[in-house]
Order: sequence, then structure tokens, then C-alpha cells
Amino acid sequence: MKLLLLGSGGREHALAWKIAQSPKVEQLYIAPGNAGTALVGENVPIKADDFDAIGRFVLEQGVGMVVVGPEDPLVKGIYDYFKADPRLAAIPVIGPSKAGAVLEGSKEFAKGFMERHGIPTARYRSFTADRVDEGCAFLETLQAPYVLKADGLCAGKGVLIVPTLDEAKRELHQMLDGMFGQASAKVVIEEFLSGIECSVFVLTDGKNYKILPEAKDYKRIGEGDKGLNTGGMGSVSPVPFADETWMRKVEDRIIRPTVEGLAAEGIDYKGFIFFGLINVGGDPMVIEYNVRMGDPETESVMLRVKSDLVDLFEGVAAGDLDRRTLEIDPRSAVCVMLVSGGYPEAYDKGYPITGIGDVDDSIVFHAGTALKDGRVVTAGGRVIAVSSYGTDKADALARSFRNAQKIDFEKRYFRSDIGFDL
Ligand code: AMP
Ligand code: GLY
Repeated sequence: MKLLLLGSGGREHALAWKIAQSPKVEQLYIAPGNAGTALVGENVPIKADDFDAIGRFVLEQGVGMVVVGPEDPLVKGIYDYFKADPRLAAIPVIGPSKAGAVLEGSKEFAKGFMERHGIPTARYRSFTADRVDEGCAFLETLQAPYVLKADGLCAGKGVLIVPTLDEAKRELHQMLDGMFGQASAKVVIEEFLSGIECSVFVLTDGKNYKILPEAKDYKRIGEGDKGLNTGGMGSVSPVPFADETWMRKVEDRIIRPTVEGLAAEGIDYKGFIFFGLINVGGDPMVIEYNVRMGDPETESVMLRVKSDLVDLFEGVAAGDLDRRTLEIDPRSAVCVMLVSGGYPEAYDKGYPITGIGDVDDSIVFHAGTALKDGRVVTAGGRVIAVSSYGTDKADALARSFRNAQKIDFEKRYFRSDIGFDL
């Protein structure tokens, strides 16, 4: 089969690396991909949300399956675009319909969905500009710190955690005044939850599901989890507190009610669900849903999936995921992200990257890279993920840190404390 993967980050390189191992795949295309995906498949210069160009390419090349990496094409409705075109309708798209992608596309919808299905999450209310006074009154009923979330997609920047009530009220006004454009025309205010976070992933055909290895990501730029939020500076799988008892709670209270809730609401959902969870006194609660895999969690999780991922995708498409097997590697896997100096604020691009060829015993996934005159250069904030297996977390991390030192580019930075809190 010819398979087309959409996206261009570290998550997509890790997915491409895993997909390329499948004997079912004779040709893997990545649109648009990066310098790393070009090593395991063929990059195609099409943007991940250019549906007309994607549809034409799929028909011209005889592509048999489309796997969607990032949320953007899903929220814009690529699944529905394929379903609506008789020439494309039979080609499976791994990713939810537009109605399902709203779980990530609207925080208010996600909160309402959890409320309807009794899924544990922080107490909340949502407000528009005409009800800003009620929003301020609701803030007064909560304890510091205050959590304000833009309803719509903001490339990971739409959540503010504010220490004082006065600041929270000021930020609420600014958000409703268009701080994040249309995305913050509605703001969800919720109770602050305290605990360690954990990302849990499932693949579902809309009825059955498989639980992939869980992971923890490290979002802050600085060591000790200090400083600005980033797209993710590293990840670790498994997560020690996510033991059998905890994961049973996750499955019973969160995963099953979510998959059943989607079906009960008539929402077509064939793809990944990413549960952003927090462990509150031993009980899992949902911080957010995403409708895709996590980045940089995928750069650890894919190492631990032993089974043929494409066979699982076929199960998703056929609706017989219950008859497929998911075998998980018992080893630990971690990823350390090398980023451009300055990130997540302003940074320069185009610096040559050296030392990738010297890496041994780790897997290098490209995140923000490009090929320029035959050389691999930096092309984003998060540049390279160095992923490793180990007998345990410490063993895997030692490999990733050792190899991270070998890869260099101007102003390269990475956190050397990934996994410190586990
Ligand atoms: P989100 O985009 O919803 O994942 O939020 C970004 C980050 O903000 C999360 O990963 C958490 O670290 C934090 N966060 C969001 N909601 C809450 C909450 N209710 N309590 C504590 N932290 C939160
Ligand atoms: N690592 C968090 C995310 O992918 O949203």
C-alpha cells in the first residue's frame, strides 16, 4: 500500500519511522515533511491543510491511506473532505471527523462533553465579552492560581495560569477583547488542579480502542520546570505512577466514557485520542483532549509500540480494532529535544546542524529541520529529538544526553533534567 502522512514535525518523523517498518507499506509519502522524514519516505511539497492538493495527489499516486499528524487539518475537516468526494470516500483517513476534532478545537465543547458523560475534570464556566462581569464574579468563587483558557486553537499558547485575582480579571478582559483573536472570543475559566501530568493515548475505530504507552512531557523551557511554556522539551515513557491500578481508573472513568460518549453523540471518530491527564491525589482528571498524538510524546511512545502500526490503522479503518494486537515493548523510552536558542520566543533559523552521523544507540528524529544546499539546517524552535531505549528511565536518559552532546548547531539548547520529577 502507498501511505500518505501529513505534517512536518518530530511527531511526524517518529510516526514515519514506525510506519516505514511495516511490511504493508510499499511507499510512504510525507506532506510536507522535514529533512528527517526524507530519510524514511518521500517528502511531497504540499501543505498539510491544502485539501485540494492532497486529494489530487492521493488520486494521482493511488494512495491507499492518509494518516494525519497535526490537529489543524482535522479541525478544518480533512476527514469530511474525503468522505464528501466519491473518488476519495473509500480511502481511509486516520483522524477524526470535524465534529470529533472539536474536542480539541473548542475547550468549551470539551468541557461540556466531559460534563455530559461524567468524565472527571476541573469545575468550570465559560464566558463571552457580554458576560465579562459574570466571569469576574465566577473568578471570585475560585482559589488562586486562576486558569483562563481561550476556547479556540492558539498553537498551545491559549492557557493562562495567573497568580492573583486582580491579574486574572485583567487577563479575562484582555482575552475577551481579542488577545488571541477569535480564539479567545470565548474564555473557559476553571479550577486549578494540582498534581503531576501524564499523557495517555488511544487509537480508536469509534467502538473499540487500544491504549498506547503513556508518556510524560516536559513543557517548560527551563530546568526544574521553570520559565516559559514550549511545545515540549522532552518526554519519558512509561510514567511510574501510571501503574495498573491508576490506568484502570483512567480506562474506566475516562477512556471508555469518552469513546462511548462520542458514539452516543453520533460523532464519527477513527483516530488517535490524546488525554492530557493530571494525577490529583491518586485520581486521574482530564486537563484537555487532543485529537492527535502528542509531540514530543510520540518520539518516546513509538519506540515502545512493537506491533505493526499500519495493521492497527487498518483495524481503525475497518472497525475491527478488537481483532488486532498491540504489543508493547517493556523497555523505557525517552526523548530529549534540542531547541534553537531564544525559543519559545524569537530565534534564528538556517544554522547548519553537525554531528547527527556520530550518534550511536539513540534514534534521531528531526523536528524543525530543512535541507539547504544538501546540508541539514535548523528550521524551527524545536530542532531535533534524541530518542533512546533503556532498561529503565535513567539508562535511556543517559544515552539521549550523551548523544545530544554530539549534535551541535549555533545556540543549541536542551534541558538536561528530563525525567527529574519521576
Ligand atoms: P492545555 O492547553 O489545556 O493543556 O493547558 C496547558 C497547560 O496548562 C497544561 O498542560 C497544564 O500544565 C496547565 N493547566 C491547564 N489547565 C489546568 C488546570 N485546570 N489546573 C492546573 N493546570 C492546568
Ligand atoms: N506535548 C503536548 C502536545 O502535544 O500537545
